[in-house]
Amino acid sequence: MTHYTTVRPPQAAPDWTIPQDWESYSADEHAMWDHLFERQTRLLPGRVAPAFLEGLDILRLSKPGIPDFAELNARLMDATGWQVVAVPGLVPDAAFFDHLANRRFVAGRFIRTPEQIDYLEEPDIFHDVFGHVPLLANPVFADYMEAYGRGGQRAGELGAIERLARLYWYTVEFGLLRGANGLQIYGAGIVSSFSESVFALDDPSPNRIAFDLRRVMRTLYRIDDFQQTYFVIDSFEDLLRQTVENDFAPLYRALLGAQDIGAAEIVDSDRLDHRGTQAYAHAKALSAGKHSA
Ligand SMILES: [Fe+2]
Repeated sequence: MTHYTTVRPPQAAPDWTIPQDWESYSADEHAMWDHLFERQTRLLPGRVAPAFLEGLDILRLSKPGIPDFAELNARLMDATGWQVVAVPGLVPDAAFFDHLANRRFVAGRFIRTPEQIDYLEEPDIFHDVFGHVPLLANPVFADYMEAYGRGGQRAGELGAIERLARLYWYTVEFGLLRGANGLQIYGAGIVSSFSESVFALDDPSPNRIAFDLRRVMRTLYRIDDFQQTYFVIDSFEDLLRQTVENDFAPLYRALLGAQDIGAAEIVDSDRLDHRGTQAYAHAKALSAGKHSA
């Protein structure tokens, strides 16, 4: 995800954080959280990585509604040493990576309106907290996120932010995991979305391809609709190992002349779980063409 914006709002601190101001949420806003929470927790068992369900309890706080970060952070700190901090919206890459490298996850404080219930342009608190926090309570995934933050700081120096952003996109946001009884979702962009939680696993349209670090770093992605390709990891341990053990500097150099791979493209070296029909994406493109004609 591109965490890019240029002007820091006056209410934000130099590290871009703002107070969550939990007391100012309205009853409707709390009700929206409870509705989304209930809908996803009903849908996810059997679809989501067990580690996500194990981490979900961390969000069941002493009062219903939008989690109060003060209470949430006390529990998250005990579990893995992570905290959640509120920000006004997307933040610059340097601030984003610095927070991750120091085990702070940045979260929007606003929640979607009823009109936005299934489509949002910027991540809201439900995406950021419901989608991301349960796995931050998992010790291995928590280490992966910190390693990613440190990798981001280096990628900035090496001019390779875009390559690294693709790794984040195809793991943290839209990753799949190979479970004992089939594929499971774990990416926050999927688990916080009612429709993509089904699409990513069940729909014949998208490709599902075994995770390969170099391949992922060459792959374009969709920001406007369901993904056309998902990458499948074997375990969080394996993902962490590949991230920590690989020296990314020579990897970026090796990829300098490499062509980007399209969001729907399959290449010879791919190990496929499923070759997507791309029927969904093609139908959408067709109807968009008709609308603009
Ligand atoms: Fe996210």
